[in-house]
Formats: sequence, C-alpha cells, structure tokens
Amino acid sequence: METPSQYGMSNRKPVTLHRLREMHAAGDKIATLTCYDAAFARVLDEAGVDALLVGDSLGNVLQGRPSTLAVSIEDMAYHTGCVARGNRSSWIIADMPFGSYQESPEQALRNALLLMQQGAHMVKLEGGGWTLPAVRFLVERGIPVCAHLGFTPQSVHALGGYRVQGREESAARLLQHQAEELAQAGATMLVLEMIPALLARDLTRALPIPTIGIGAGAGCSGQVLVLHDMLGMPGMPGDQPKRFVRNFLDGSAGIGLAVQKYVADVKAGRFPDDAIHSF
Ligand code: KIV
Repeated sequence: METPSQYGMSNRKPVTLHRLREMHAAGDKIATLTCYDAAFARVLDEAGVDALLVGDSLGNVLQGRPSTLAVSIEDMAYHTGCVARGNRSSWIIADMPFGSYQESPEQALRNALLLMQQGAHMVKLEGGGWTLPAVRFLVERGIPVCAHLGFTPQSVHALGGYRVQGREESAARLLQHQAEELAQAGATMLVLEMIPALLARDLTRALPIPTIGIGAGAGCSGQVLVLHDMLGMPGMPGDQPKRFVRNFLDGSAGIGLAVQKYVADVKAGRFPDDAIHSF
C-alpha cells in the first residue's frame, strides 16, 4: 500500500525491470523524466516518476552547449552518481555519450561499467543497425540496454538539424526494421524521438518491449521529457521552441506538484495530446 508523502509516493517499492515489464504487459504508461542531480532525483522519485533518465541533454541544459556532442563519460558518470544518491525507488537509465560506444563492443562495455558502478540500472545507446553488436555484448554481460531511434541528438549534423524522422515510407520501414532488430538483440526499452505519432503507435503495437516517446505521440508505452523543459525554463538563446513540450509548472503550486501532474497526465493518457504535441 503506497502512502502519500510531501510529494506523493515515498513508500513505493523500487521500480525494477520486472516491474517495467509488468507495466508494459498491463498497458500502464511509464512516466519518465530526465534528471541530473540528487535534489531533483528525490523530488521526482517522491512524485512517482517511474524512470529517471540521466540524459546527455545535460550538455544543453546544464552545460549550455549547442549539442550533446561534447559531453564526456566522466560527465555522465558524475551526474549518474548524483542522481543515484538522491533516488530511492525510480529506475535509473544513464545515457552513453557520443564517442563512448561507437568504437567497439568492448569500448561500450568499459564505459557502461562506469555508469553502472555509479548507480545506473540501464544504459541508453543511440542508433540502430551498427549498434547491434554492442547491445548484444552488454546484454549478455548483465547490463540492461535502452535503445533510441528516430531523431538521435548525437547524429544532429548527419541528420541535417533537429528534424522529425521517419516521415517517408522508406524511412519508416527502416525504423521499424531497426526497432525489431534491437528488441531481438536484447534491448528491453526503446526511446522514440520526434517521429510521426501514427508510426510510433504502430511500432509500439508490434514490438515486444516498451517504447518511451518524446515528440512521438500518445501511442507509446510511456513518455519522457527534459525536466527543465516541462518546468518551463527558458532554453539557450537560439533554441527552437519544442512543439511536444507542456509546461507543467504553469498552474501548479510547486515543482513536486508539477511533476505529480506530469505523472498523472501521462498515466491517464492526457499527455501528450496528439492534436497539439505530435507530428
Ligand atoms: O538526453 C536526453 O535527454 C534524451 C532524451 C531526449 C530522450 O536522450
């Protein structure tokens, strides 16, 4: 029995991979937010956020960089440790930064170990096809892997900027193929970023693993937003406004309540609203 605390759910059982699978099987939405430090980890955990993503978006939001490309494995290990110390029961996913897994499965393992040793429960790798050997290598060695397809920020230059992916038939088919391969290789979660809502819904129905959408519509198994975006914090000068974000602090009496509202809206299917937030 979960009892309410200052923000919501301080006594809930730790979220495990088994629990996430149960939620997926039951059709319960998985509420995820990015998190980079201990203070926010505590607030998000107590508000009932299922998974905390220590995203390499910290390069943008904390370090003020134009992209995630310069974020190092040391940066990621430091922030993963901070989040793990503030967290009690949420599932922690840590991003493998640019250059930390592209070389070989062995390089991926060496760097994933640094994140797991700091308290990550799962690591996230961007891309499909060429990432399969690394995904298999990590999973076989006991490291849960979240994949990431669609708009993959570490490939921003190759993709020609911040653009919706998978709009054309051939691109949609490739995405579908890569998603199936990643699930077969052992990935147990898949982030889908900035793809058409209908494609994300169809992928979600076809895959045996949960999808976590950001700008991918209401048909995903869960949602993730960058914490600073959903709290309405201004981006860096020149940042594009993001269609898929809602400011949950607007109309809430505090950060904990704003996060609780996000969790409740994701779980009830009130966020995202495909008419407003999707492509
Ligand atoms: O780094 C990050 O915040 C992410 C999300 C955009 C999914 O990867």
